[in-house]
Formats: sequence, structure tokens, C-alpha cells
Amino acid sequence: MLTPMPNKRFLIAANWKMHSPPPGFDAADSPYKTESAVDVAVFPSFIDLSRCISAQLITGGQTGRPEPSGALTGDVSIAQLKTVGCRYVLCGHSERRKNHGETDDYVAQQAIAALEAGLHPIVCVGETADERKKGKQHDVVKKQLKDIPSGIIVAYEPVWAISGGDPSKPAASAQDAQDMHAFIRSLLPDKAMRILYGGSMNGKNCEELLKCPDIDGGLVGGASLKPEEFKKIVEVAVALEKNYES
Ligand code: 13P
Repeated sequence: MLTPMPNKRFLIAANWKMHSPPPGFDAADSPYKTESAVDVAVFPSFIDLSRCISAQLITGGQTGRPEPSGALTGDVSIAQLKTVGCRYVLCGHSERRKNHGETDDYVAQQAIAALEAGLHPIVCVGETADERKKGKQHDVVKKQLKDIPSGIIVAYEPVWAISGGDPSKPAASAQDAQDMHAFIRSLLPDKAMRILYGGSMNGKNCEELLKCPDIDGGLVGGASLKPEEFKKIVEVAVALEKNYES
């Protein structure tokens, strides 16, 4: 039995990390284009943003500085992302938290700056394997969301489920993902905000995950680099959407 949130519209987002856009990303029949029933967005590296925007893909930055400009060599501001035509920005992806020391406080500043700039912030949260083993996953996620303003999108990406390029890595079970998504929704002041799942989502497991009532889309890494696989995920989202409408 499908019990979606009212007015549910999936967002399927492709995080290409430090990879080039996949072949055909800019073709007329690109699977990375937004569908009438489902939002699709791509997150390329900074150097590929313009190509994606020119190809009329809905595009976001993988991170951005909250300061509008400044002496910050190598960085790109959220305001600059907006200027080139981005619509979204990822805030606090676990790879940014781990490799670039992005703290909860900094992520909150990013989310505020994004809202001020008119971008949709997608705030990434999720526990490590060790934190889950110790039963601390809810505490971790609650802390990560503590100072986050309302009006954001959340991506729950358990760190232990992120493939890191290993396609054999399992995603979270639909039950574990749904439990955490319901918990996240209970924390958000705006209950209608979208909560995406990320971590080894692919063409095979996406239906089970997207059927969960509190999963409103996916933030897809490895599988988003394979156009056919990504297309499958979008098709499943479109089919579920139609199912809800009928
Ligand atoms: P994978 O889909 O490769 O597990 O990556 C998830 C992710 O980190 C998306 O932001």
C-alpha cells in the first residue's frame, strides 16, 4: 500500500562528485533532464557547471562558501553559483565534512546563505558505521540538523551506505531508511519538505526505497554516472508518481 506525503513530487539528483559529466548528458534525450512528473537535477564539478546549465539541465553546486566573495583561493561562493544559473547547492556532504572539515555550524551558514541567495540548499546528514553500531544514529542526525533553518531539502546519506565507487556495497534497507526519514521529518518545522535518500541507490533498489512514505527522492552518486541506470531510477520515480495520482 503506497501512502505518499500530500503533494509529493520526487527529486532525483545526480551527484557526479569529481567525475566528468557522463556521455550524452547534453543530448536532446538526456536522462538528466527534468521530467514533467519528476524533478531531476545534476551536481557536476565546478568546471562543468556552465556546460550543464547551457544544456538546460537543472544544476546545483556540490558545495559553496557562505561568504559572497573574498580572499579564499580555490573556493566558489554560493552567490557565485546563483549568478551562473545554479538552482541548488549541496551543503555538508559527508565527503566535504570528512575531507574539508565542514562542521555543523558551517553547514548551517551555507544553508542560510543559499536561502538568501535564492538557491535550494540540500543539507546532507548521516551517521558513520561506528555511530550506528553504537546506536547513536538519531543523536548524530539530530545534532547535524540542530541549527538548520526551515525551507531546506534534507538528504539522508548514511556514510556506511555510500558506495565510494564500489557498486557491490549495499544501500540501507528500506525499513532503516524509512525509520530515519520519519525521524528527520519529525524534527523539521516544515513537514512538507523533501527528504532524499542517498547511499548506493541504483536501478534495482530504487523502487523499494522510493515507495517508502517519507522518502521523497534520491541523491545518487555512482549509479548517476551510468546514463541507463540513472534513467531507470527516473522512470521508476515517474511510474510511482503516476501511481499516486491514479
Ligand atoms: P553512491 O550513490 O555512490 O553511494 O553515492 C551517494 C552519494 O554520496 C550521493 O551524494
